[in-house]
Amino acid sequence: MRKQAPYYRQTWAAINLDAIHHNVSSYYQFLKKEREIMAVVKADGYGHGAIQVAEEALAAGATWLGVALLEEAIELRQAGIKAPILLMGYLANEYFSIAQSYDVSITITDIESFIDIEKYISAEHSALRFHLKIDTGMGRLGLWEEEQLDTFISLYKKYTQRSHPNLMWEGIFTHFATADERDQSFLERQISKFNEYVARLQQEKITVPYIHLSNSAGIFRTEALQYANLVRLGISMYGLYPSANVREELPFQLQEAFTLHTKLSLVKKVDSHVGISYGLTYRTKKEEWIGTLPIGYADGWDRNLSNASYVLIQGKRFPIVGRICMDQLMVRLDQEYSRDTPVTLIGKQGDQEIKIDDIANTLNTINYEIPCKLAKRVPRMYYKESQNEKQ
Ligand SMILES: Cc1ncc(COP(=O)(O)O)c(C=O)c1O
Repeated sequence: MRKQAPYYRQTWAAINLDAIHHNVSSYYQFLKKEREIMAVVKADGYGHGAIQVAEEALAAGATWLGVALLEEAIELRQAGIKAPILLMGYLANEYFSIAQSYDVSITITDIESFIDIEKYISAEHSALRFHLKIDTGMGRLGLWEEEQLDTFISLYKKYTQRSHPNLMWEGIFTHFATADERDQSFLERQISKFNEYVARLQQEKITVPYIHLSNSAGIFRTEALQYANLVRLGISMYGLYPSANVREELPFQLQEAFTLHTKLSLVKKVDSHVGISYGLTYRTKKEEWIGTLPIGYADGWDRNLSNASYVLIQGKRFPIVGRICMDQLMVRLDQEYSRDTPVTLIGKQGDQEIKIDDIANTLNTINYEIPCKLAKRVPRMYYKESQNEKQ
């Protein structure tokens, strides 16, 4: 396991790599090896740490990695990761040769980026590998009219008829907009639209090695599709469900990998009617024990959790009181606790638990956003339950 940089603060996220392993290998078994898994590790592995998650996912059966930015792909390569990487987002043509030099597959998101692609391909590196994105209803990136595929195919044929195009059509894919919802009618429309693109390729006798559609929510809804041979697994690899429906329908359980911890930095007894923090939005109702924690909104602990959320100390739940500051926040305690007593902001203590979903619900957002927004200055610690050690 990789060594951590030294750190001095008492706030950290602990990432359970066994949970990542469990989640990926559960999908691997579910897919019966008929489809490969792309572990989606964009946005620094949804805030969990891209390199560590990528290594664990690959050890658990994933064969591909998915990122949004070329910078993210380069970080993985510089860490020595050799697995195929797909850059799923837009990349300006002028950087295509850099993707080639790092052996990163790119996504072609429109005809325009393909028209004069030859100008941007370097002859010095191995072929520029690309996946063509089809917009079947997400409204984001990709070809959105079938006629565009005809134009695309004729351009592709023109390039490949030349002697050394140094270009490889490696995949075609789409992305679902509503796979996590119970009503699957729009999902089915997206699939049938995509089917038409795939059929068109078959008519033209163009074989691309990878055809993929599914995100976490779509995986078990697209089993019947014979041609799909890769899935893009994001949120569920981290142990989070894309929606309550998916939680009910998924035939196996996921394990949440991410927990968040800190320690009390000060505990004091405060008189009745004393205001706490900026704006004095909380006032003690009687003599109260108030604890200060070294975590704030600059760490990504959203200011909207002020007077609205909880922490766990010695298996008990205590409210955040007053406004969350940039680096600190205050909690109301039931008694005196010593300085440095451990505090859990996400995770379990005894029979109490604060889940990422609880925080997301309080903030009226989705679970994806919570670990993603946890700032870089919160160190990530990695452990394996099987090794029973924190490194
Ligand atoms: C193109 C693409 N594929 C796959 C994923 C993974 O989705 P999820 O995290 O819902 O599994 C994402 C994430 O947003 C994505 O943008």
